Amino acid sequence: MQNTSPINILLVDDRKENLLSLTAVLDSSEYNLICATNGEEALKLTLQIEFAVILLDVDMPIIDGFEVAKLIKQREKSKHIPIIFVTAHGDELEFVTRGYEIGAIDYIVKPFQPENLRSKVESLVSMHRNFQEKLQHQSFDTIRFAGEIAVGIAHEIRNPMTTVFGLLQMFKSSHDRPSDSMIELMLSELNQANMIMSEFLYLAPNKRVDLERKDINQLIRHISPSLKKLAEDHGIVLELNLKDALEVSIDPKEFNMLLLNLSKNGIEAMQPGQKLMIHTYLSPTGEIVLQIRDEGNGIEENVIPHIGTPFFTTKETNKGLGLAVSFSIAKRHNAWINYETGDQGTTFSIRFKPDSDR
Ligand SMILES: Nc1ncnc2c1ncn2[C@@H]1O[C@H](COP(=O)(O)OP(=O)(O)OP(=O)(O)O)[C@@H](O)[C@H]1O
Ligand SMILES: [Mg+2]
Repeated sequence: MQNTSPINILLVDDRKENLLSLTAVLDSSEYNLICATNGEEALKLTLQIEFAVILLDVDMPIIDGFEVAKLIKQREKSKHIPIIFVTAHGDELEFVTRGYEIGAIDYIVKPFQPENLRSKVESLVSMHRNFQEKLQHQSFDTIRFAGEIAVGIAHEIRNPMTTVFGLLQMFKSSHDRPSDSMIELMLSELNQANMIMSEFLYLAPNKRVDLERKDINQLIRHISPSLKKLAEDHGIVLELNLKDALEVSIDPKEFNMLLLNLSKNGIEAMQPGQKLMIHTYLSPTGEIVLQIRDEGNGIEENVIPHIGTPFFTTKETNKGLGLAVSFSIAKRHNAWINYETGDQGTTFSIRFKPDSDR
C-alpha cells in the first residue's frame, strides 16, 4: 500500500535566512517542512511529531547541534530518526567524527548544493516510507492472526454454550425439574468449555512456570501408564527407551502436557499394530533430548506451513491446539523443538539446554 500523506521533516537552524534557503530547496508537496530556531524547540517538536529526517545546524547558541542530536538519540521515541548535520565545519575531521559518533547519518557542508541536499533527503524519506509500510503490514498480519484465534475460541466455546443454553431454555418454559442425566450433560459441556480455556491459556507467552530440578525419565515413567492406556485404546504399542537420570529445571505439569500432546499426535497418526517410541538421551553438547517417534505416514505437505498455528487441525473432532501449546511450553523452558517427517513416520525432538547454559 502506498503511503501518500506528506512526510514530516524537521529543519533546525538559529538563523532564519538559513531556514528560508533550506525550505526553498526542499519545497515539495510530499514534504511537510517544520522549522525550529533553537535546540530546545527542536527537542520539544521531536516529542510531539513523527519525523522522517532531521536537518540540524551544528553552530547554535545555548545547546549546540551535537548536544541536541545526543538528546534526540537518547530518547526512545526519537532515537531512530536519521539526522543530517548542516555545518560550515564539514571539512574538519574532528567535527565529522563527533557527528558520526553521536549517530548522524550524513553531513551537508554550507554552502550546500541544492541537488545534493535534495537527493540525500529523498533517499532517507524513501527508507522511512518503506519502514512505515513494513510496520503496517506487520500490524495487519497480527490483527489477522488475532482474528483467526478469536474465531477458533468462539467456535470451541460456543458449541458447549449452545447446548447448555438450549437445555436451560427448555427447562425454563417447563415445570419439570431437569433430570440428573440432563444436569450431568450440562456440567460436562461446561467442563469441556473450561478445559478448552485452560488449554488455550497455555499459549500465553508470559504464563508462569514453576521450575523444579527433575529427572525427565522419572516424569515420563510416572505418566507412562496413562500414555500406555491412550496408545492401547488405539491399538498402538508404546515403547520407552529411557537412559540414566537426566536432570533439568522444568515445570513438571508443563512437561507432562508437552509429552502428552506430542504422543497423542503420534498415536493419532498411526494404524493399529504400529509403535510409538519415546526416547531420551544426553546429546554430545550436553542437551537433554526427548524424542517422540511414530510410524505414521508423516505430516502432510500442505499442513507443514501451519505447524504450530493455534486451531489448525486436519482432524474432525480435535481443536488444533496440541502443537501450538507444545511450542509455547518449549519456549518458556528455553528448549527448542524440531521434527523430521516422511512416509516412514514423524519424529519430534525437544532439546532442553543444561541448566548451566540458560
Ligand atoms: N505426528 C504427526 N504425524 C502426522 N501429522 C501430524 C503429526 N503431528 C501433528 N500433525 C498434523 O498437525 C496438525 C496440528 O496438530 P495439533 O497437535 O496442533 O492439533 P490436533 O492434533 O489436530 O488437535 P489437538 O492437538 O488440539 O487435539 C494435525 O491436525 C495433523 O494434521
Ligand atoms: Mg494434537
